[in-house]
Amino acid sequence: MTIKPLIILPDPLLRQASRPVETVDAAVRKLADDMLETMYDAPGIGLAAIQVGEPLRMLTIDLSGEDDEKAPRVFLNPEVVATSDALSVYEEGCLSIPDYYAEVERPDAITLRYLGLDGEMHEEAATGLLATCLQHEIDHLNGILFIDHISKLKRDMVVKRFTKIARKSG
Ligand code: NI
Repeated sequence: MTIKPLIILPDPLLRQASRPVETVDAAVRKLADDMLETMYDAPGIGLAAIQVGEPLRMLTIDLSGEDDEKAPRVFLNPEVVATSDALSVYEEGCLSIPDYYAEVERPDAITLRYLGLDGEMHEEAATGLLATCLQHEIDHLNGILFIDHISKLKRDMVVKRFTKIARKSG
């Protein structure tokens, strides 16, 4: 397994829509392993493939606590097929926007359809933090970031700050 460099705001890759995974082959399995390794190293609870520069509809999630056993999940071509009317608010962050957090409101419950590493289609209901995390990561597959769900004023400030940092280090 390899820890891959993370793509950071304002890299235009983050605005690119990812393409579907066509077959669950060795390359996809290797990427899933690398994504998990990268996510654990960061550390983070969710990662989309585009965040390591691979424009594929793939995400990894692990919501287990620090002292719990690891519970890695891999979702290929995930699609939200139903959402609840009830909303919930979580403070979100993103490995591509380090050290910035903001409250985002999203549907509290979703029904998800996805391809597993087993090559089978699955349907799963998710609520609470898992539902939020899945929606955040699926947004990445469509070039959407959590800062798109906050006010334009706040978003412009964040983008400006990260653009300045990128200019300095580039
Ligand atoms: Ni993110």
